[in-house]
Amino acid sequence: MRDKLKIILIEDNKYDAELISKEIKKISKKTEIKITCNFAEFQIIFTDFSPDLVLSDYTMSGFTGIDVIKFVKKISKNTPVIIITGSINEETAAFCIKTGADDYILKDHIIHLGPSIKQSIKNKKINLAKIKIEEDLRKSEKNLQQTVGELEKTLEEIIVTIARIVEMKDPYVAGHQQRVSELAAEIASVLKIPDKQIYYIKLASLVHDVGKINIPSSILNKPGKLTDIEFELIKTHSQLGYEIMKKVHFPWPIAKIILQHHERVNGSGYPSGLKDNDILPESKICAVADVVEAMASYRPYRPAIGIVKALDEISSKAGILYDKEVADACVYLFNNKKYKLAEIRENT
Ligand SMILES: [Fe+2]
Repeated sequence: MRDKLKIILIEDNKYDAELISKEIKKISKKTEIKITCNFAEFQIIFTDFSPDLVLSDYTMSGFTGIDVIKFVKKISKNTPVIIITGSINEETAAFCIKTGADDYILKDHIIHLGPSIKQSIKNKKINLAKIKIEEDLRKSEKNLQQTVGELEKTLEEIIVTIARIVEMKDPYVAGHQQRVSELAAEIASVLKIPDKQIYYIKLASLVHDVGKINIPSSILNKPGKLTDIEFELIKTHSQLGYEIMKKVHFPWPIAKIILQHHERVNGSGYPSGLKDNDILPESKICAVADVVEAMASYRPYRPAIGIVKALDEISSKAGILYDKEVADACVYLFNNKKYKLAEIRENT
């Protein structure tokens, strides 16, 4: 052992104390030993001296090794305590270990003391290293969680900013996105989707029509029937939205959810005509919320069709255009949970 070893020895027999000290010096020349036989004095020495190890006789005048173990483990649970005794029954020895002693040595077998001290000090170092690693790990986890939290907050702010830019272009789209976002999150909640997934379904839905920023307002809000060319142009918005959002590396599939929000389970949707299992579940939720909100709400070019007809639409085409479970969850939400779409808000 290279470092100086600080030991308190509790022993009332001068001859035994000398014998034990000799054994200690066999394992380390650099040793400082404080010897006492008084419990009150031991407590003071322990606090001032901060020993690496405590060796104690079991039976002392007015106290026992158990008192020593309890005191040491209460103050510094990693400081080893070795009980050295002339005789000890198995029950008492077991009780010492149970109370926190690291070992017990019979005076008749004092040659075992050196190896026992070495092992106890080694165990102490391992324990302290383990505690340090656990503390460092806890700190790293905390820092990581903080960093992830900050990153998510920044990404969320990016999405809210994009939603606001869309709002500046077309307030109807913005109000629509806000309400689709809230409805999609509620549907996801009925479907018992994990919270994290609900969170990014909400965010994706908040910007699901971002591609409309590239479509002239005169077409978006045109009163009357759209020409085929105009409709084809509007249909490009999901692809355009995907192109805009894929530039930001979100930890969630925001761009893909947007890309697929007009796909239909029978393959009749756009832009890719994807079928059922090829469509993201998040997009299926956004799609239902999108249709219900759009039909329930007023548009500059038509009056509101109403929530009853909107729910009829998704019920009658559940399993054909819309995912059945998602459609059922949406109907359940309005009919059983008495969900209501929020008023169109001035700010997203
Ligand atoms: Fe859309």
